[in-house]
Amino acid sequence: MLSTVTILHSAFQMDVAERAAWLRKEIERHNVLYYVEDAPQISDSEWDALFRELVEIEEAHPELKTPDSPTQRVGATPVSRFPSYRHGTPMLSLDNAFGEDELTAFDERVKRFLNREEDIDYEVELKFDGLSMSLTYVDGLLTAAATRGDGVTGEEVTPNAKTVRGIPLRIQQDLLGRIEVRGEVLMLKSVFNELNQTRLERGEQAFVNPRNAAAGGMRQLDSRLTAERKLSFFAYGVGLLDNPPTSVSDQYGLMLWVKGLGFPVRQETQVCRGREDLLARIHQIQELRPTLPFGIDGVVIKVNSLELQRELGFTARGPRWAIAYKFPAEQAFTVLNGIENQVGRTGVVTPVAELEPVFVGGVTVSRATLHNYQEVVRKDVRVGDTVIVQRAGDVIPEVVGPVLEKRPRASQTPVAPTQCPVCGTDLVQEAGMVALRCPNTTGCDAQIQSKLEHFTSRTAMDIEGLGEKQIARFVELGWLNDLPGIFALKDREADMVELDRMGAQSVSNLLAAIEASKARPLDRFLFSLGIRYVGERTARDLARAFGTLDLFRHADYDRLLQVPDIGPRTASEIEEWLENPGNQALIDALLAAGVSPVEAERPSGDLFAGQTIVFTGKLERFTREDAEALVARQGGTAAGSVSKSTALVVAGPGAGSKLVKAEQLGVKVISEDEFLAMLPEGTLS
Ligand code: IVH
Repeated sequence: MLSTVTILHSAFQMDVAERAAWLRKEIERHNVLYYVEDAPQISDSEWDALFRELVEIEEAHPELKTPDSPTQRVGATPVSRFPSYRHGTPMLSLDNAFGEDELTAFDERVKRFLNREEDIDYEVELKFDGLSMSLTYVDGLLTAAATRGDGVTGEEVTPNAKTVRGIPLRIQQDLLGRIEVRGEVLMLKSVFNELNQTRLERGEQAFVNPRNAAAGGMRQLDSRLTAERKLSFFAYGVGLLDNPPTSVSDQYGLMLWVKGLGFPVRQETQVCRGREDLLARIHQIQELRPTLPFGIDGVVIKVNSLELQRELGFTARGPRWAIAYKFPAEQAFTVLNGIENQVGRTGVVTPVAELEPVFVGGVTVSRATLHNYQEVVRKDVRVGDTVIVQRAGDVIPEVVGPVLEKRPRASQTPVAPTQCPVCGTDLVQEAGMVALRCPNTTGCDAQIQSKLEHFTSRTAMDIEGLGEKQIARFVELGWLNDLPGIFALKDREADMVELDRMGAQSVSNLLAAIEASKARPLDRFLFSLGIRYVGERTARDLARAFGTLDLFRHADYDRLLQVPDIGPRTASEIEEWLENPGNQALIDALLAAGVSPVEAERPSGDLFAGQTIVFTGKLERFTREDAEALVARQGGTAAGSVSKSTALVVAGPGAGSKLVKAEQLGVKVISEDEFLAMLPEGTLS
């Protein structure tokens, strides 16, 4: 049988080698647009198609594989140890400054050393909280990636670094000789949260913070495991450089040049003149900190002029021309008042720390997950302990550990429950899994409640007005005990109106929201089913791959495994879910109730890529559905309620509580006309 590759190439009379070379270039060009320019030109699925074609060609013609092929990013054969690697120029460390006085002292030291009175230009960069990496390119090709080690010699982790998408395998311009590009490998907060969620669902140990997850990822002997961590890279400097650009005279220009070579450089970098300007910028970055997609632990301040840098030189510790200004740690002490055993959607029992409320990382924290009982024992936390609580940006609050000196005398190690705290069923522990699980999937109120909550949530079927409290009430009244039951609530309209606090208007709003949810895009519907390991991203991949619910529900393991980004564990979990007659009956019942998921429209633009937008008040130019479709066509998601992750609120006349909430949270609010003006030309024609 002819492979698709052969057919394709005979049809177009195209030379396979040429096509492979073109694909490699094209894929890396789109990587740069995505990771460096932050301006993708194609959708993820178009990128996947290019990538798959290249994989097919290389499989059919292994001689065409090159070391800089993007296919090399998926991970290579495991190694038994990391070779040591001597850096071309040492990777130095930085002195730290805590507080404004120490910063002033640095500024004064610099001026004194240079014998200058006038203000110095400083370049201010984010201090990435990851692990440093030195990337060596010879004649443009990535030849080695090494950790810092002792600064002189590090460990060579090239196969691992190749899995990091932001690290170019080849420099985007002709550059002869050797260059060492220095930067930080880190894990985005969103990836960290998603990864931890999956690990917990699988009964695996959660990562403590994104830095550990990134550092552990780069230390994997099997680079396929590194690839799974979806790490990122940002450049902040240059080590050895055979052919420096003649036009560059300052650090800022150097970083722009590095960006031009194809490396991700953050756009927060700015030049400040003198101490006052510097302090103002530091405050701005401190404000920005919770909104950044990754963790930072401060800023790095560098004398901008390269000539002055040379004049200042180094001490034994590090450069005289740079300093790390550290932000206060996002940690606090509080008391562990109790441990509640929570039963989740899939029956997993999670111990949750009940804390004396404490303000940390910009919010008040009163609860924090303890993940599982193995973790409780490992951390050795006991009720009554004073504990350290940590929260970095959007990362879920974490109990780091106890303060042993403050431990009350009579404290005891918490004991894991043997029965479900909600329905009393004996808990089970699956082979090889840490998590305890309540096996009563259809009869346990806690599981029913959280399945319903998940189904109606904003990123799933988005049924406004059917949140945690309302669901609990309906479950208690016996009106609701499974997902299809939501669509039978309309038969209870009169009863609902009678319920205190509900009233005719909110009942009719609720029923309208339930009705509207019937036509959600397929990916949201698949996500809402609450299949283990099927998060939002996987649901999108599935919807894209299968197109219709019917094709999805009849998929088997082998077909599922062909879906990009779906591994054996997820594929077998989905297959098992689909093979369960109860689940097929659930889908049938939802379809019979009128649910009719629509295939997600392929975005035609990326104006709102990855953003959530809320419409509120009366729209005068188009219907709510049309407005939401416009957002989807530009890669965004329309949601029913405002949260701090909302990118934009479009408010028309009569906008009420959502507008107030947007203003409280500082979410940008625009009018319908302003929204229309944002859309690319021709969108509405
Ligand atoms: S410059 C000679 N810039 O901080 C100057 N370092 O405490 C070397 N880091 O090992 C470092 N963000 O891993 C520099 N924008 C940044 C940085 C940064 C994070 C890390 C780096 C280094 C450590 C020094």
